[in-house]
Amino acid sequence: MATITIIGSGMMGSALAFPARENGNTVRLVGTHLDREIIDACRATNRHPKFAKHFPKGVPPFPEGCEFYQIEQMDEAVKGADLVIGGVSSFGVDWFGEEVLPRIPVEIPVLSVTKGLLDQDDGTLLCYPQVWEARLAAKGIKRDICAIGGPCTSYELVAHDQTEVAFCGKDLNVLRKIKAMMATDYYHISLSTDVVGIESAVALKNGYALGIALTIGLNQKAFGLDSELHFNSQAAVFGQASKEMSRLLDLQGAGTLDNLCVGVGDLYVTVYGGRTRLVGILLGRGLNIDEAKEELKGVRREEAHRIRQAQRSRLPAPPAHGRDPHRKEAGEHPVGVVHVRTLRDDA
Ligand SMILES: NC(=O)c1ccc[n+]([C@@H]2O[C@H](COP(=O)([O-])OP(=O)(O)OC[C@H]3O[C@@H](n4cnc5c(N)ncnc54)[C@H](O)[C@@H]3O)[C@@H](O)[C@H]2O)c1
Repeated sequence: MATITIIGSGMMGSALAFPARENGNTVRLVGTHLDREIIDACRATNRHPKFAKHFPKGVPPFPEGCEFYQIEQMDEAVKGADLVIGGVSSFGVDWFGEEVLPRIPVEIPVLSVTKGLLDQDDGTLLCYPQVWEARLAAKGIKRDICAIGGPCTSYELVAHDQTEVAFCGKDLNVLRKIKAMMATDYYHISLSTDVVGIESAVALKNGYALGIALTIGLNQKAFGLDSELHFNSQAAVFGQASKEMSRLLDLQGAGTLDNLCVGVGDLYVTVYGGRTRLVGILLGRGLNIDEAKEELKGVRREEAHRIRQAQRSRLPAPPAHGRDPHRKEAGEHPVGVVHVRTLRDDA
């Protein structure tokens, strides 16, 4: 079997250790410099502090569990690996590009879970594999980066809920090898060579989901915290979000039904997922940023960051890129305004 090294022991990176190890692969989980306590806890308990379930043992004849590494041991953890998975959030994109990728031998494929797009001065939106590939090329390193998109929450993957995601990359043969390492009877993987399409489809779903959850909070504000859950307003924003996803994909030159479905599926799971939904509901109830942050202690920074962006969306809309043939009045895209600002701040 293969050796899979996961760098970034946040929730998603750690969750991927489950299918990886249950497939009989050797799994090395490496914490970033921000994950020291997580790795200490994993070593002490064989469990990620945010998961109820222990890391899996392997399957015979490889019964041992996962191996845990602090960041200083990264080279040791990467040595002899058949696959490196990048598990950082968008805050770690620069660090991953500067401190990690240049140290990974080019013959080892890299698969990233990080979601987001980086906007350029000319309005172009680059997905993270493109950003990293360009930065590596500037150092004289040529490598392709694969990525994961699609509906998958970490805790449900850990729970073995039936999950369908898309792995994307330029080389189908490399993707097939990665799929063989990672696919299980509960982790189903489609393959796509449309990296920009898959990455663009899923990049903005957190902001859209936040917008949908806002309507829940608005209803609670209007009718009481224990009022019946309403769906008309959620569905209205869901429809608007789907339309905007489609337009973004067109803008990226990747407007296919397959790509859109990956994004819409991811949006659906995120609306029902824990943290983004909670942020949206709190804002909808009328909490200000400080009150929401107080309620959200323990929620990861990426979400808290989006609260701030959502609040700023009350400001006038940012200038149009001038390349979207569908764009009309800025006010016609209330959810999109949140996103454009999120993208800019991520930069
Ligand atoms: N592709 C998928 O199927 C999928 C599913 C869920 C989430 N995600 C994405 O995966 C990413 C991680 O999500 P998560 O739920 O694991 O988040 P998390 O907050 O649990 O973990 C974040 C990880 O990024 C690292 N990190 C954060 N800031 C950093 C910095 N400045 N420098 C270096 N490292 C830094 C942390 O140390 C940690 O390892 C997000 O971008 C999320 O949107 C992908």
